Amino acid sequence: MKAVWYTRQGPPAEVLQFGEQPDPHAAAGQVRVKVHASGVNPADTYRRGGRNFPLEGSLVIPNSDGAGIVDEIGPDADPALLGRRVWLYNGQRSGRVLGTAAEYIALDADLVRELPDSASLLEGACLGIPAMTAHRAVTLGGELAGRAVFVSGGAGAVGHYAIQWAKRFGARVVTTVSSPEKAAHAQAAGADLAVNYHTEDVAARVRAFTGGAGLDHVVDLDFGANVAMLVPLMAINGAIAFYATRSNLQPVLPADNVMRRNLSIHGLVLNGAPLAARQRAQADIVRWLKEGGMQHTVSSVHPLPRTADAHAAVESGAKRGTVVVDCTA
Ligand SMILES: NC(=O)c1ccc[n+]([C@@H]2O[C@H](COP(=O)([O-])OP(=O)(O)OC[C@H]3O[C@@H](n4cnc5c(N)ncnc54)[C@H](OP(=O)(O)O)[C@@H]3O)[C@@H](O)[C@H]2O)c1
Repeated sequence: MKAVWYTRQGPPAEVLQFGEQPDPHAAAGQVRVKVHASGVNPADTYRRGGRNFPLEGSLVIPNSDGAGIVDEIGPDADPALLGRRVWLYNGQRSGRVLGTAAEYIALDADLVRELPDSASLLEGACLGIPAMTAHRAVTLGGELAGRAVFVSGGAGAVGHYAIQWAKRFGARVVTTVSSPEKAAHAQAAGADLAVNYHTEDVAARVRAFTGGAGLDHVVDLDFGANVAMLVPLMAINGAIAFYATRSNLQPVLPADNVMRRNLSIHGLVLNGAPLAARQRAQADIVRWLKEGGMQHTVSSVHPLPRTADAHAAVESGAKRGTVVVDCTA
């Protein structure tokens, strides 16, 4: 099969190679997917670049997420999946080194779910990490109907899905953005209020939004930068779920205030989340796709041989949504 791989870590144009690799086949409990689209997430670039990750194998095919058609069923896997459009996650994660930047991938059937017609195959490649991480971060807040939820970075790949999940579960959502264009994008996902965190007083806007009652739940992508601001804004028994802490890995925690407000603080990484939580995310995504109305954002599309450009696009910080590799091109 045609594939992209790396055997050492470094800049994308230097280490990503394109060529032929052996075709994988579905082992027991697995299916093989003919990959049409491969989603690139920031952590795929960290793994390839060596940021906080060791080289995970002697040859790594990058990218966790993807979508395609099941074309081979292993023993003990559901034969009904044969020929179905599917989306998948954890392709290159949790000990697996052969990801989705390839014509084929063989993996556990549990990592694969049907892709209803409301989403294209390119959009299906956006679902894995962004939509599932957002689902986990939002549902850690428990029952959200009528509650006030704060989502930082609401125009981001995860943030945009987090707004959508919070609204689907009945919450009122305030989010942060850095431009009018990003505000419009976040509001299209359903945000009730988008605050420019570069030019506005976020705490004052949030206080006004909650009428002083406080935030019930937070989905945050920069815990280190935001924790000092967020804790005093929280309602009693509120929760903060954070999935990144980009600017400060060791922030000072206002522990007295966290305790007096009975706050829960959850750090999360999708591939280590409890299996039941990941399966609930998969089921909720499929249900919503069947109903229609879930929004996806494909930032750019790059042909498989140019996967290095896709990784560079993610690393540029300018993406809006998910950068996708077209594995049929
Ligand atoms: N733990 C997990 O399982 C998990 C899963 C997925 C992603 N992540 C991590 O989460 C981060 C975001 O991933 P992504 O794919 O959603 O990235 P993305 O699409 O680039 O989105 C990030 C968004 O956040 C905004 N932003 C950055 N710093 C901010 C801050 N301090 N306050 C508010 N907004 C801020 C950015 O826009 P502006 O700079 O214009 O504000 C951008 O819109 C990455 O570090 C990624 O590695 C972790």
